[in-house]
Amino acid sequence: MRSLGRTLYIIVCAAGAARDVSRLVGHAQDEGWAVQVIATPAAMDFIDVVALEDQTGRPVRSRYRKPNEPRPPRADAIIVAPATFNTINKFAQGMTDTYALGLLAEAPGLGIPVVVLPFVNSAFAARAPLRHSIDNLRAEGVTVLFGPGQFEPHPAGTGAEQLKDYPWHLALKALNTRGGGL
Ligand SMILES: Cc1cc2nc3c(=O)[nH]c(=O)nc-3n(C[C@H](O)[C@H](O)[C@H](O)COP(=O)(O)O)c2cc1C
Repeated sequence: MRSLGRTLYIIVCAAGAARDVSRLVGHAQDEGWAVQVIATPAAMDFIDVVALEDQTGRPVRSRYRKPNEPRPPRADAIIVAPATFNTINKFAQGMTDTYALGLLAEAPGLGIPVVVLPFVNSAFAARAPLRHSIDNLRAEGVTVLFGPGQFEPHPAGTGAEQLKDYPWHLALKALNTRGGGL
């Protein structure tokens, strides 16, 4: 489907599911989004940058621009998938030490809808900091797809076996449900 001109930022973090983010990009493009992929610096080792740039027609961005470089087009909506333990906790705390986190830090205040689809194992999920982060993000209006029928944590050490079942489709569905979709 041709892009209607609205821009979806897909923020990809350094978890195994990142290698399949092209699936989410394709689904979003089918819905009419222009897609900009943002990777955390650590995620750059998990993704096929050239293939994603071909797919989106835009450079994958992972670092802040230089002050004299032009601003990229603003996001109309943001999906974070896969979202790591690290990035979820830092987003909730308001840290901005990656470009991805800088975008996320401002998004709720700018009224940009944000959907977070975690990819964490049960050991990460058992930690109080993650539970608090999810509660705090939800209280700020961020959609976090964590729990029964959404992303459900897998046993530690089994992430590679979960990749085919990672529910990419739920992220776009959630965006449409909360009114941020096209
Ligand atoms: C092979 C590999 C797989 C990983 N899988 C996960 C994962 O599924 N979930 C997670 O939260 N962290 C995972 N990590 C750890 C993160 O990559 C690490 O915490 C990193 O600092 C996250 O950076 P980011 O949040 O900026 O992307 C993995 C690391 C490696 C090397």
